Amino acid sequence: MSDFCGQVALVTGASRGVGASIARMLASAGADVVINYRSKSHRAFEVADAVRTNGRKALLAQADITDESEMNQMMKLVEKEFGRLNLLFLNASGGMEKNKPDDYAMQINLTAQSRAVDLFLPLIPVGGRIVFITSHLAHFYGQKPGYPMYEPVAKSKKAGEEALRNRIPELTTKGIKLVVVSGDFIEGTITPKLMQRKHPDLLENRRKSAGSLPNIEDFARAIVNAAMDSNLESGATVFVGNTEWETV
Ligand SMILES: NC(=O)c1ccc[n+]([C@@H]2O[C@H](COP(=O)([O-])OP(=O)(O)OC[C@H]3O[C@@H](n4cnc5c(N)ncnc54)[C@H](OP(=O)(O)O)[C@@H]3O)[C@@H](O)[C@H]2O)c1
Repeated sequence: MSDFCGQVALVTGASRGVGASIARMLASAGADVVINYRSKSHRAFEVADAVRTNGRKALLAQADITDESEMNQMMKLVEKEFGRLNLLFLNASGGMEKNKPDDYAMQINLTAQSRAVDLFLPLIPVGGRIVFITSHLAHFYGQKPGYPMYEPVAKSKKAGEEALRNRIPELTTKGIKLVVVSGDFIEGTITPKLMQRKHPDLLENRRKSAGSLPNIEDFARAIVNAAMDSNLESGATVFVGNTEWETV
């Protein structure tokens, strides 16, 4: 696979989970990768090693995406190192953390996502792509049943998705596409595990009703493929896993 040869990609929240898997796959498809992380530097270093093993450049970029000045520094780092950014993967997310302000979910899933686009847009050339990663519970927020404990995340991610969709005309004039990739619960990740503390049968029931659940690699592969697929219109949504549920 060499579809991304010569391209530079940034993945927010690439130190673990889905983001780390996206970063590894991008490198095997030929991209140089900026690995953003908030705090888990040892994990980010491992992802960087994997990128370099593929013969690609890895740039480690610590920045809390909710911190404007850290994001600004990350943008300057990318500009200095590469001078451009072909692919921006808006993967880092949150909203269920303890000891955060009441509006943290909106800060990370709405404000920080829009600001990332503001900051990096000048570096994205014609043909570039922005990929927003979300969950079915957030994408269908207000249309399908959800879980009260996940509501701040669902509501804020939906707001983040809509804010980005509103920018499609502006992106189109710059020759840049937005793609949204939405996933069911992903096997082996932290969010459903946290939710299971309150809903012990959550994954078991969802596996039964959905048939099966995607794992981290399934989701990451679909995300990378969505970035690669030139037939996707700007604003297209790619669904990973079953999107049908009646009750939770
Ligand atoms: N997990 C699921 O079941 C599921 C389902 C559908 C969609 N999704 C979506 O997939 C994406 C990734 O989910 P995941 O489960 O892989 O997440 P995760 O395991 O919680 O990974 C979070 C990543 O984001 C980083 N991060 C968290 N807060 C940050 C901040 N303020 N600034 C910068 N980085 C930050 C973490 O960095 P550190 O480790 O350095 O703190 C880590 O690299 C999210 O957009 C999520 O909504 C997940």
